[in-house]
Amino acid sequence: MKGLILSGGKGTRLYPLTYTRAKQLIPVANEPVLFRVIRAIRDAGIADIGIVVGDTEPEIREAVGDGTRWGVTITYIRQSAPAGLAHAVKESLPFIGDDRFVMFLGDNVIQGGISPLIRQFASSDWNSQIVLKQVPNPQQFGVAELNPDGSIKRLVEKPKQPPSDLALVGIYMFDHHVREAVHAIRPSFRGELEITDAIQWLVEQGYAVHPYIHRGWWIDTGKPVDMLTANDHVLEEVTPHIAGHVDEASKVDSRVTVEAGAQIINSVVRGPAIIGENARIVNSYVGPFTSLYHDVVVENSEIEHAIVLEHSKILHVGARIQDSLIGRNAVVTHTERKPRAIQFNLGDYSQIDLV
Ligand code: TTP
Repeated sequence: MKGLILSGGKGTRLYPLTYTRAKQLIPVANEPVLFRVIRAIRDAGIADIGIVVGDTEPEIREAVGDGTRWGVTITYIRQSAPAGLAHAVKESLPFIGDDRFVMFLGDNVIQGGISPLIRQFASSDWNSQIVLKQVPNPQQFGVAELNPDGSIKRLVEKPKQPPSDLALVGIYMFDHHVREAVHAIRPSFRGELEITDAIQWLVEQGYAVHPYIHRGWWIDTGKPVDMLTANDHVLEEVTPHIAGHVDEASKVDSRVTVEAGAQIINSVVRGPAIIGENARIVNSYVGPFTSLYHDVVVENSEIEHAIVLEHSKILHVGARIQDSLIGRNAVVTHTERKPRAIQFNLGDYSQIDLV
């Protein structure tokens, strides 16, 4: 069995962060979402993984490399255009060959423990397996309607009137019949080849498509708020450890991870939280559900429920920063300069909420 990770696309909903970075590389609990996906596939016993890439190919290649770190082999597949998930499958067929495969969206974060499900498909005689999850807003997803016996009746992409609350989670398993499906379907009204249509085609042809209903959490990290929610969940899963330095004046509670080279000086850190490698927290408060990535500096400030990416600095900020997603090399600081005015140097599509 092979693995296929979709890591192309545009990431427009995560602007401005995704102007400069592939959204699949944004970390939750200090691990890029894409790395977590690679681990889940590897843990299912799959060593041959293809990653579909688009314009962000160079940075994905640089971050992931050849897969040695996870004991897998990575093949990069350049998609000619971000023309839909089924289009990505179509362009990956030379890599997939006639093998069974699991396809994972590279920006989806799912509760640990999905690997046995993938393993089970490898030895089943189903033609496809899809993963469904009850959601409150099914109109934003591909939706499955089931028959009374639990089999799939039909699938629809982003329906205005959803026939059920069962959304398609970004994990799909197929055998070689998907080849016929992606060739048979036509682009949707939004001009994309939809994977939902390909699976619907398999159902209509009488192929065995098995629905599995996932009970744990699952986040499709489309928007900044989704990144924070994913971060909340994953931080709860992390086994904490202290590899960095915590001075005697600091209070760090038991659900906090302090990575190597990080320093906590005269500060309070309440978990679950993770302080990245070589970060410096000085005279500050870091509250629950916060992930500070490597080389972040927080001085004389308070931050809670936030993700801060590498090399950013939060210095002498009087108000507590919360519910925030801060990109790389950003500086948030306080100045005594007169007049007392707020000064910004913001990227396109940034959002600031002042009180
Ligand atoms: P989406 O979130 O559906 O699309 P997107 O990445 O273009 O994002 P946005 O809507 O914010 O502009 O994509 C889901 C995943 O699949 C994501 O990891 C990107 C990947 N993808 C491809 O690899 N090829 C494609 O053609 C598309 C549409 C997505």
